[in-house]
Amino acid sequence: MIRLDRLLARSGLYSRSEARRLIRAGRVAVDGEAAASPEAKYPDGCAVSVDGEAVNCAEFRYFMMDKRAGALSATEDAGQGTVLDLLTGWQRALGLFPVGRLDKDTTGLLLLTNDGGFAHRVISPKYGVVKTYLALTASPMGAEDVAAFSEGLVLSDGTRCLPAVLEPLEGCLCRVLVSEGKYHQVKRMLASRGKPCLSLRRTAIGALELDAGLGEGGCRELRQFEKELVFSSS
Ligand code: URA
Repeated sequence: MIRLDRLLARSGLYSRSEARRLIRAGRVAVDGEAAASPEAKYPDGCAVSVDGEAVNCAEFRYFMMDKRAGALSATEDAGQGTVLDLLTGWQRALGLFPVGRLDKDTTGLLLLTNDGGFAHRVISPKYGVVKTYLALTASPMGAEDVAAFSEGLVLSDGTRCLPAVLEPLEGCLCRVLVSEGKYHQVKRMLASRGKPCLSLRRTAIGALELDAGLGEGGCRELRQFEKELVFSSS
């Protein structure tokens, strides 16, 4: 059970004091019944509305972003812009953080949430969630590279990678599927084959594909089925 003013503020749309004012003004309903007291407690999952409009007061929220180059995958940085700077005001109030990291110059699908358990399941190799990248390399990848990726590469510093899928595409483009997220992993895997990575874009996490309509730096909330796609294979 949670106090109504806290519940309403969880939406990111209102501060606690704004929530109290709205409730006292009779503009808030819970499960269709007008609510008059900010102190009244309600169960998680009840339906809250303001002026008849449904308000999402869920504890945990999930978003996808098309990360643009230059934005840091961090919640704060003294000198440089982070992915949180790409959010709108109410989204910023939700306490979101990026699920794992993309390098500063990597673009594409980045999940943001305030659910630590979800983030852990996406990131940890234990859960085997496959991340799909589109890479441009200095020269084309070939059959020997494909075989080396599938056997599990050993990087120049001795780091052993789990078996991964490499699919050469047209020209110097290739698709890389990995289920772990070591530091600069995909770039280092490609470099270990003597084919430095010139640009990298993440296109999918599990079976969840980046929404092509988002545009650079765009962000939107996941639908329930999309959240489940993260843990399905494509
Ligand atoms: N691998 C990399 O090398 N960089 C990223 O940003 C993500 C995966």
